Amino acid sequence: MLSPFRLYTILLITLSVVRAVPPPAEFRRRQSITALSPSQVAALKPYSYYASAGYCAANATLAWDCGAICQANPSFQPVASGGDGSSVQFWFVGFDPTLNTIIVSHQGTNPQDILPLLTDGDLTLEKPDATLFPGLDSSIEVHSGFAQEQAKTATSILGAVSSAISKYGTKSVTLTGHSLGAAIALLDAAYLPLHIPELVVTFIGYGLPRVGDQSWANYLDAQPISVTHINNQEDFVPTLPGMFLGYHHPSGEVHIVDSGSWLACPGQDNASTECIVGDVPSIFSGNESDHDGPYGGVEMGSC
Ligand SMILES: *[C@@H]1O[C@H](CO)[C@@H](O)[C@H](O)[C@H]1NC(C)=O
Ligand SMILES: *[C@@H]1O[C@H](CO)[C@@H](O)[C@H](O)[C@H]1NC(C)=O
Ligand SMILES: *[C@@H]1O[C@H](CO)[C@@H](O)[C@H](O)[C@H]1NC(C)=O
Repeated sequence: MLSPFRLYTILLITLSVVRAVPPPAEFRRRQSITALSPSQVAALKPYSYYASAGYCAANATLAWDCGAICQANPSFQPVASGGDGSSVQFWFVGFDPTLNTIIVSHQGTNPQDILPLLTDGDLTLEKPDATLFPGLDSSIEVHSGFAQEQAKTATSILGAVSSAISKYGTKSVTLTGHSLGAAIALLDAAYLPLHIPELVVTFIGYGLPRVGDQSWANYLDAQPISVTHINNQEDFVPTLPGMFLGYHHPSGEVHIVDSGSWLACPGQDNASTECIVGDVPSIFSGNESDHDGPYGGVEMGSC
């Protein structure tokens, strides 16, 4: 009889042989860089407005009274909001009956304020807090500055999402945000399903910086979480912190190119010049004004 260890070894070898077999042609074809259709781009627009509304004060989003940004999603039903816009980024949670999903949005920050987080002392990678992220593989590390920001609102978000689940009877949650807000929302996307079973998680983020290491990116790719991170033209924020520092994006990049097309870039950190890594090889080839958008006509960064 084979010892468990030998069985395990054989299993590993078999798995790696299986993995080495190239995917069928049909699958490879789908792996090319393709433009989103006009209807796919249009379907993302409500989330762009939800990300933009993340910049609005907590009292305004709770009343869903923030002018055109709120009116773009007129049926939204707020559940909770918080933050003060300075020491804690604003956030809100509610339900969209048209999209039939709970929405969680976090405020971002402007390029001048996020740059220190991405280039200076705060670049340390750390293991996510074991209480917030129980049972994660010990190889996973995330940006300590982003982890601290996410920890400030984590239990409030969890409470509000739980209330929304009871009230509206759905387990679909969509997390969104721009810039720092996207980074917090991505951490939420990993955090919430560790506490709420059978949650159906979608992440749609804008101008997302890199949040964690290779194990983090691989973990997200392996989860049943739909990840879409949209970046605009020559915005350099999504290229930071650099891969040479050990940071990696999960799959799911959508790059808005100068022509206005939205290109789906397969894999993690696709190096093609049609995707952000190839388009913005250094911060000096980037353009700070692209960070706030427009993302399909929606500007981020103010309310
Ligand atoms: C939110 O509070 C600010 C001042 O704290 C006030 O000016 C604003 O009108 C309030 N907005 C709403 C929608 O209540
Ligand atoms: C980048 O996209 C190309 C398709 O043009 C694909 O062949 C390649 O595998 C992708 N790179 C990564 C790292 O996934
Ligand atoms: C940066 O982007 C803005 C807006 O897209 C544009 O007006 C400006 O010319 C760009 N700057 C450079 C140096 O390309």
